[in-house]
Amino acid sequence: MVLVRDVRPGIQWVGAIDWDRRLFDSLIPLPDGTSYNSYLVKGSKKIALIDGVDNSMVDTLLKNLESLGVKKLDYIVSQHAEQDHSGAILRLAKVYPEAQILASARCMDLLVAFSLVPSERVREVKDGEKISLGDKTLEFIHAPWVHWPDTILTYIPESKVLFTCDFLGSHLATSDLYADDEARVYKSAKRYYAEIMMPFRVQIQKHLARVRQINPEVIAPSHGPLYRNPKFIFDAYADWSSDNVKNQVVLPFVSMHGATEVMVDYFIDALISRGVYVQPFDLTKSDIGKIAESLVDAATVVIGSPTILAGAHPAVVYAAFLANALRPKIKFASIIGSYGWGGKMPEQLSQIISNLKVDVLQPVIAKGYPKEEDLKALDRLADDIASRHRGLGLL
Ligand code: FEO
Repeated sequence: MVLVRDVRPGIQWVGAIDWDRRLFDSLIPLPDGTSYNSYLVKGSKKIALIDGVDNSMVDTLLKNLESLGVKKLDYIVSQHAEQDHSGAILRLAKVYPEAQILASARCMDLLVAFSLVPSERVREVKDGEKISLGDKTLEFIHAPWVHWPDTILTYIPESKVLFTCDFLGSHLATSDLYADDEARVYKSAKRYYAEIMMPFRVQIQKHLARVRQINPEVIAPSHGPLYRNPKFIFDAYADWSSDNVKNQVVLPFVSMHGATEVMVDYFIDALISRGVYVQPFDLTKSDIGKIAESLVDAATVVIGSPTILAGAHPAVVYAAFLANALRPKIKFASIIGSYGWGGKMPEQLSQIISNLKVDVLQPVIAKGYPKEEDLKALDRLADDIASRHRGLGLL
Protein backbone atom coordinates (compact mmCIF):
# COMPACT_ATOMS: atom_id res chain seq x y z
CA MET A 1 0.00 0.00 0.00
CA VAL A 2 1.02 3.58 -0.50
CA LEU A 3 -0.26 6.61 1.33
CA VAL A 4 0.40 10.17 0.22
CA ARG A 5 -1.65 13.14 1.33
CA ASP A 6 -1.90 16.71 0.08
CA VAL A 7 -0.95 19.41 2.56
CA ARG A 8 -0.97 22.44 0.27
CA PRO A 9 -0.61 22.71 -3.52
CA GLY A 10 2.81 21.24 -4.33
CA ILE A 11 3.35 19.95 -0.78
CA GLN A 12 2.56 16.32 0.10
CA TRP A 13 2.93 14.15 3.16
CA VAL A 14 4.84 11.03 2.07
CA GLY A 15 5.89 9.62 5.47
CA ALA A 16 5.01 6.51 7.45
CA ILE A 17 2.63 5.77 10.32
CA ASP A 18 4.14 3.39 12.90
CA TRP A 19 0.97 2.08 14.53
CA ASP A 20 2.71 -0.64 16.53
CA ARG A 21 5.79 1.07 17.93
CA ARG A 22 5.66 0.89 21.72
CA LEU A 23 9.09 2.12 22.81
CA PHE A 24 11.32 4.98 21.72
CA ASP A 25 15.04 5.37 22.49
CA SER A 26 14.67 2.02 24.32
CA LEU A 27 13.23 4.21 27.10
CA ILE A 28 10.03 6.11 26.35
CA PRO A 29 6.75 4.14 26.16
CA LEU A 30 4.66 5.01 23.10
CA PRO A 31 1.10 3.98 24.06
CA ASP A 32 -0.31 5.45 20.84
CA GLY A 33 2.47 4.63 18.36
CA THR A 34 3.94 7.46 16.29
CA SER A 35 4.49 8.68 12.76
CA TYR A 36 7.56 9.78 10.85
CA ASN A 37 6.41 12.64 8.68
CA SER A 38 8.31 13.24 5.49
CA TYR A 39 7.20 15.92 3.04
CA LEU A 40 7.67 16.26 -0.70
CA VAL A 41 7.83 19.85 -1.93
CA LYS A 42 7.51 20.40 -5.68
CA GLY A 43 8.55 23.83 -6.87
CA SER A 44 8.27 24.97 -10.48
CA LYS A 45 12.00 24.26 -10.98
CA LYS A 46 13.19 21.93 -8.25
CA ILE A 47 11.95 19.22 -5.89
CA ALA A 48 12.89 18.78 -2.23
CA LEU A 49 12.14 16.18 0.39
CA ILE A 50 11.93 17.43 3.97
CA ASP A 51 13.07 14.81 6.51
CA GLY A 52 13.20 11.08 6.05
CA VAL A 53 11.68 8.36 8.22
CA ASP A 54 12.90 5.75 10.68
CA ASN A 55 15.19 3.14 9.19
CA SER A 56 12.53 0.47 9.76
CA MET A 57 10.13 2.24 7.38
CA VAL A 58 12.36 3.42 4.55
CA ASP A 59 10.63 1.11 2.08
CA THR A 60 7.31 2.78 2.86
CA LEU A 61 8.77 6.21 2.08
CA LEU A 62 10.42 4.99 -1.12
CA LYS A 63 7.17 3.38 -2.31
CA ASN A 64 5.29 6.59 -1.62
CA LEU A 65 7.80 8.55 -3.69
CA GLU A 66 7.69 5.94 -6.45
CA SER A 67 3.90 6.14 -6.55
CA LEU A 68 4.22 9.87 -7.26
CA GLY A 69 6.67 9.21 -10.09
CA VAL A 70 9.53 10.98 -8.31
CA LYS A 71 12.60 10.06 -10.37
CA LYS A 72 14.88 12.81 -9.11
CA LEU A 73 15.23 14.88 -5.96
CA ASP A 74 17.24 18.07 -6.01
CA TYR A 75 17.40 18.43 -2.25
CA ILE A 76 16.88 16.31 0.83
CA VAL A 77 16.48 18.57 3.86
CA SER A 78 17.70 16.76 6.96
CA GLN A 79 16.33 18.91 9.75
CA HIS A 80 17.70 16.71 12.54
CA ALA A 81 20.07 13.76 12.62
CA GLU A 82 18.26 11.51 15.10
CA GLN A 83 17.75 8.18 13.41
CA ASP A 84 13.93 8.24 13.41
CA HIS A 85 14.27 10.88 10.67
CA SER A 86 17.76 10.37 9.30
CA GLY A 87 17.69 6.57 9.25
CA ALA A 88 16.39 6.86 5.68
CA ILE A 89 18.93 9.42 4.45
CA LEU A 90 21.66 7.01 3.33
CA ARG A 91 19.20 4.93 1.26
CA LEU A 92 17.62 8.08 -0.13
CA ALA A 93 21.06 9.38 -1.09
CA LYS A 94 21.69 6.17 -3.03
CA VAL A 95 18.29 6.07 -4.73
CA TYR A 96 18.49 9.77 -5.61
CA PRO A 97 22.17 10.31 -6.48
CA GLU A 98 21.65 13.88 -7.71
CA ALA A 99 20.14 15.02 -4.41
CA GLN A 100 22.09 17.42 -2.28
CA ILE A 101 21.48 16.90 1.45
CA LEU A 102 20.89 20.18 3.27
CA ALA A 103 21.59 20.39 6.99
CA SER A 104 23.07 22.54 9.75
CA ALA A 105 26.79 22.14 10.42
CA ARG A 106 26.04 20.17 13.61
CA CYS A 107 23.60 17.96 11.74
CA MET A 108 26.17 17.31 8.96
CA ASP A 109 28.61 16.05 11.54
CA LEU A 110 26.01 13.79 13.15
CA LEU A 111 24.67 12.46 9.84
CA VAL A 112 28.17 11.32 8.94
CA ALA A 113 28.76 9.88 12.43
CA PHE A 114 25.43 8.07 12.99
CA SER A 115 23.99 7.36 9.56
CA LEU A 116 27.26 6.98 7.62
CA VAL A 117 26.14 9.56 5.07
CA PRO A 118 29.11 10.55 2.83
CA SER A 119 30.14 14.05 3.89
CA GLU A 120 30.53 15.17 0.27
CA ARG A 121 26.79 14.71 -0.25
CA VAL A 122 25.88 17.17 2.51
CA ARG A 123 25.78 20.95 2.22
CA GLU A 124 25.51 23.26 5.20
CA VAL A 125 22.65 25.76 5.36
CA LYS A 126 22.94 28.77 7.63
CA ASP A 127 20.32 30.34 9.82
CA GLY A 128 18.14 32.57 7.61
CA GLU A 129 19.47 31.07 4.36
CA LYS A 130 17.00 30.70 1.48
CA ILE A 131 17.03 28.24 -1.38
CA SER A 132 14.66 28.66 -4.31
CA LEU A 133 12.72 25.80 -5.81
CA GLY A 134 11.19 28.13 -8.40
CA ASP A 135 7.80 29.24 -7.20
CA LYS A 136 8.58 28.03 -3.66
CA THR A 137 11.39 28.97 -1.33
CA LEU A 138 12.96 26.98 1.48
CA GLU A 139 13.87 29.30 4.34
CA PHE A 140 15.94 27.77 7.11
CA ILE A 141 15.66 28.64 10.77
CA HIS A 142 18.22 27.24 13.15
CA ALA A 143 16.57 25.98 16.33
CA PRO A 144 19.25 24.28 18.43
CA TRP A 145 18.20 22.24 21.44
CA VAL A 146 14.73 21.21 20.39
CA HIS A 147 16.03 18.70 21.50
CA TRP A 148 19.44 18.12 19.85
CA PRO A 149 21.96 20.84 18.99
CA ASP A 150 21.52 20.26 15.25
CA THR A 151 17.87 21.02 14.55
CA ILE A 152 16.68 23.36 11.83
CA LEU A 153 13.14 24.32 10.90
CA THR A 154 12.08 25.03 7.32
CA TYR A 155 9.56 27.63 6.21
CA ILE A 156 7.94 27.95 2.81
CA PRO A 157 6.60 31.51 2.74
CA GLU A 158 4.63 31.10 -0.50
CA SER A 159 2.60 28.30 1.12
CA LYS A 160 2.81 29.59 4.71
CA VAL A 161 3.82 26.12 5.92
CA LEU A 162 6.41 25.75 8.69
CA PHE A 163 8.15 22.38 9.05
CA THR A 164 9.25 21.95 12.66
CA CYS A 165 10.76 18.43 12.88
CA ASP A 166 10.47 17.27 16.52
CA PHE A 167 9.44 20.72 17.76
CA LEU A 168 5.64 20.94 18.39
CA GLY A 169 5.18 17.28 17.45
CA SER A 170 3.50 14.34 19.15
CA HIS A 171 3.97 10.60 19.29
CA LEU A 172 0.53 9.74 17.97
CA ALA A 173 -0.34 7.30 15.21
CA THR A 174 -3.61 8.49 13.74
CA SER A 175 -5.32 8.45 10.38
CA ASP A 176 -6.02 12.18 10.81
CA LEU A 177 -3.58 14.30 8.83
CA TYR A 178 -4.49 17.32 10.95
CA ALA A 179 -4.88 17.78 14.70
CA ASP A 180 -8.60 18.47 14.44
CA ASP A 181 -9.29 16.36 17.54
CA GLU A 182 -7.45 18.87 19.71
CA ALA A 183 -8.31 17.25 23.04
CA ARG A 184 -6.66 13.98 21.95
CA VAL A 185 -3.64 15.65 20.39
CA TYR A 186 -3.18 17.93 23.43
CA LYS A 187 -2.53 14.90 25.64
CA SER A 188 -0.06 13.31 23.23
CA ALA A 189 1.72 16.60 22.54
CA LYS A 190 2.02 17.35 26.26
CA ARG A 191 3.46 13.95 27.03
CA TYR A 192 5.87 14.37 24.11
CA TYR A 193 6.88 17.83 25.36
CA ALA A 194 7.49 16.40 28.84
CA GLU A 195 9.64 13.52 27.65
CA ILE A 196 11.63 15.28 24.96
CA MET A 197 11.45 19.07 25.19
CA MET A 198 11.08 19.89 28.89
CA PRO A 199 14.83 19.84 29.68
CA PHE A 200 15.25 22.64 27.09
CA ARG A 201 12.44 24.86 28.34
CA VAL A 202 14.41 28.10 28.10
CA GLN A 203 15.48 27.47 24.51
CA ILE A 204 11.91 26.40 23.69
CA GLN A 205 10.59 29.77 24.87
CA LYS A 206 13.01 31.56 22.54
CA HIS A 207 12.23 29.41 19.49
CA LEU A 208 8.51 29.64 20.18
CA ALA A 209 8.64 33.45 20.14
CA ARG A 210 10.49 33.35 16.82
CA VAL A 211 8.11 30.96 15.05
CA ARG A 212 5.04 32.84 16.34
CA GLN A 213 6.43 35.93 14.59
CA ILE A 214 6.49 34.03 11.30
CA ASN A 215 2.72 33.55 11.62
CA PRO A 216 2.46 30.32 9.59
CA GLU A 217 -0.91 28.94 8.52
CA VAL A 218 0.17 25.30 8.85
CA ILE A 219 2.64 23.69 11.25
CA ALA A 220 4.03 20.46 9.85
CA PRO A 221 6.01 18.55 12.50
CA SER A 222 7.85 15.32 11.77
CA HIS A 223 5.82 13.31 14.33
CA GLY A 224 2.06 13.23 14.78
CA PRO A 225 -0.64 15.26 13.08
CA LEU A 226 -0.17 18.69 11.49
CA TYR A 227 -1.77 21.84 12.84
CA ARG A 228 -3.94 24.07 10.68
CA ASN A 229 -4.72 26.02 13.82
CA PRO A 230 -1.15 26.85 14.93
CA LYS A 231 -2.46 28.94 17.83
CA PHE A 232 -3.56 25.71 19.56
CA ILE A 233 -0.04 24.28 19.81
CA PHE A 234 1.65 27.66 20.24
CA ASP A 235 -0.53 28.44 23.25
CA ALA A 236 -0.01 24.98 24.72
CA TYR A 237 3.79 25.28 24.41
CA ALA A 238 3.69 28.80 25.83
CA ASP A 239 1.89 27.45 28.91
CA TRP A 240 4.06 24.34 29.36
CA SER A 241 7.36 26.17 28.86
CA SER A 242 6.40 29.20 30.98
CA ASP A 243 7.63 29.68 34.54
CA ASN A 244 4.08 29.23 35.85
CA VAL A 245 3.35 26.22 38.05
CA LYS A 246 0.02 24.84 39.25
CA ASN A 247 -1.37 23.77 42.62
CA GLN A 248 -0.22 20.18 42.08
CA VAL A 249 1.91 17.64 43.92
CA VAL A 250 3.46 14.70 42.07
CA LEU A 251 4.01 11.76 44.41
CA PRO A 252 6.05 8.88 42.91
CA PHE A 253 6.56 6.11 45.45
CA VAL A 254 7.42 2.48 46.15
CA SER A 255 6.46 0.47 49.21
CA MET A 256 7.98 -2.92 49.98
CA HIS A 257 6.05 -4.10 53.04
CA GLY A 258 3.37 -1.44 53.45
CA ALA A 259 4.92 1.17 55.78
CA THR A 260 5.64 3.71 53.06
CA GLU A 261 2.27 2.97 51.47
CA VAL A 262 0.45 3.81 54.71
CA MET A 263 2.32 7.12 54.80
CA VAL A 264 1.57 7.82 51.14
CA ASP A 265 -2.14 7.07 51.60
CA TYR A 266 -2.33 9.32 54.66
CA PHE A 267 -0.40 12.07 52.89
CA ILE A 268 -2.63 11.95 49.79
CA ASP A 269 -5.69 12.55 51.95
CA ALA A 270 -3.88 15.27 53.91
CA LEU A 271 -3.10 17.13 50.69
CA ILE A 272 -6.60 16.71 49.24
CA SER A 273 -8.21 17.96 52.46
CA ARG A 274 -6.06 21.10 52.20
CA GLY A 275 -7.19 21.75 48.62
CA VAL A 276 -3.97 20.54 46.95
CA TYR A 277 -4.27 18.43 43.78
CA VAL A 278 -2.13 15.29 44.08
CA GLN A 279 -1.01 12.74 41.50
CA PRO A 280 0.40 9.57 43.12
CA PHE A 281 2.33 7.04 41.03
CA ASP A 282 3.15 3.58 42.36
CA LEU A 283 6.44 3.11 40.54
CA THR A 284 6.06 -0.67 40.39
CA LYS A 285 3.19 -0.23 37.94
CA SER A 286 3.39 3.28 36.50
CA ASP A 287 4.15 4.52 33.01
CA ILE A 288 7.14 6.89 33.16
CA GLY A 289 5.60 8.95 30.36
CA LYS A 290 2.60 9.77 32.57
CA ILE A 291 4.91 10.75 35.42
CA ALA A 292 6.89 13.01 33.07
CA GLU A 293 3.64 14.58 31.86
CA SER A 294 2.55 15.28 35.44
CA LEU A 295 5.83 17.11 36.08
CA VAL A 296 5.12 19.72 33.38
CA ASP A 297 2.83 21.80 35.59
CA ALA A 298 3.38 20.68 39.20
CA ALA A 299 4.66 23.07 41.86
CA THR A 300 5.88 20.26 44.13
CA VAL A 301 7.24 16.74 44.00
CA VAL A 302 7.30 14.45 47.02
CA ILE A 303 9.15 11.15 46.64
CA GLY A 304 8.10 8.16 48.72
CA SER A 305 10.59 5.37 49.36
CA PRO A 306 11.49 2.63 51.81
CA THR A 307 15.16 2.09 52.67
CA ILE A 308 16.89 -0.85 51.05
CA LEU A 309 20.62 -1.61 51.14
CA ALA A 310 21.15 1.70 52.97
CA GLY A 311 19.50 3.79 50.23
CA ALA A 312 16.31 4.40 48.27
CA HIS A 313 14.52 1.63 46.40
CA PRO A 314 16.12 1.23 42.92
CA ALA A 315 12.81 2.05 41.20
CA VAL A 316 12.72 5.32 43.14
CA VAL A 317 16.36 6.05 42.26
CA TYR A 318 15.48 5.53 38.58
CA ALA A 319 12.45 7.85 38.76
CA ALA A 320 14.42 10.51 40.66
CA PHE A 321 17.23 10.29 38.11
CA LEU A 322 14.77 10.77 35.23
CA ALA A 323 13.03 13.67 36.98
CA ASN A 324 16.40 15.31 37.53
CA ALA A 325 17.30 14.88 33.85
CA LEU A 326 13.93 16.25 32.68
CA ARG A 327 14.43 19.43 34.75
CA PRO A 328 10.78 20.26 35.44
CA LYS A 329 10.00 23.73 36.76
CA ILE A 330 8.89 22.51 40.20
CA LYS A 331 9.54 24.82 43.15
CA PHE A 332 9.39 22.52 46.19
CA ALA A 333 10.47 18.94 46.93
CA SER A 334 10.37 16.57 49.84
CA ILE A 335 10.81 12.92 50.73
CA ILE A 336 8.69 10.59 52.81
CA GLY A 337 9.29 6.94 53.67
CA SER A 338 10.62 4.49 56.15
CA TYR A 339 13.73 2.73 57.37
CA GLY A 340 14.59 -0.14 59.68
CA TRP A 341 18.09 0.20 61.02
CA GLY A 342 19.69 3.17 59.30
CA GLY A 343 20.83 4.35 55.90
CA LYS A 344 20.98 7.64 54.08
CA MET A 345 17.94 7.42 51.81
CA PRO A 346 16.87 11.13 52.02
CA GLU A 347 20.45 12.37 51.53
CA GLN A 348 20.91 10.07 48.55
CA LEU A 349 17.68 11.22 46.86
CA SER A 350 18.49 14.88 47.53
CA GLN A 351 21.77 14.42 45.71
CA ILE A 352 20.13 12.70 42.75
CA ILE A 353 17.72 15.60 42.17
CA SER A 354 20.42 18.25 42.47
CA ASN A 355 19.55 19.75 39.03
CA LEU A 356 16.18 20.83 40.39
CA LYS A 357 16.36 24.31 41.82
CA VAL A 358 13.88 23.68 44.61
CA ASP A 359 13.28 24.46 48.23
CA VAL A 360 13.61 21.13 50.02
CA LEU A 361 10.87 20.77 52.64
CA GLN A 362 11.44 18.79 55.85
CA PRO A 363 11.37 15.04 54.96
CA VAL A 364 9.28 12.63 57.01
CA ILE A 365 11.05 9.31 57.54
CA ALA A 366 9.46 6.78 59.90
CA LYS A 367 11.28 4.01 61.71
CA GLY A 368 9.32 0.98 60.62
CA TYR A 369 5.55 1.23 60.54
CA PRO A 370 4.43 4.90 60.85
CA LYS A 371 3.34 5.95 64.34
CA GLU A 372 1.15 8.82 65.48
CA GLU A 373 4.09 11.27 65.50
CA ASP A 374 4.96 10.32 61.91
CA LEU A 375 1.39 11.02 60.77
CA LYS A 376 1.50 14.36 62.55
CA ALA A 377 4.74 15.14 60.70
CA LEU A 378 2.97 14.31 57.43
CA ASP A 379 0.23 16.77 58.41
CA ARG A 380 2.88 19.42 59.01
CA LEU A 381 4.43 18.71 55.59
CA ALA A 382 0.99 18.98 53.94
CA ASP A 383 0.43 22.28 55.80
CA ASP A 384 3.80 23.55 54.60
CA ILE A 385 3.04 22.63 50.97
CA ALA A 386 -0.43 24.22 51.08
CA SER A 387 1.05 27.34 52.64
CA ARG A 388 3.78 27.60 50.01
CA HIS A 389 1.30 27.05 47.18
CA ARG A 390 -0.87 29.75 48.74
CA GLY A 391 2.17 32.01 48.89
CA LEU A 392 2.58 31.62 45.11
CA GLY A 393 -1.11 32.46 44.57
CA LEU A 394 -1.86 28.89 43.42
CA LEU A 395 -4.31 28.03 46.19
FE1 FEO B 1 12.08 12.54 16.24
FE2 FEO B 1 14.76 13.72 17.92
O1 FEO B 1 13.88 12.64 16.72
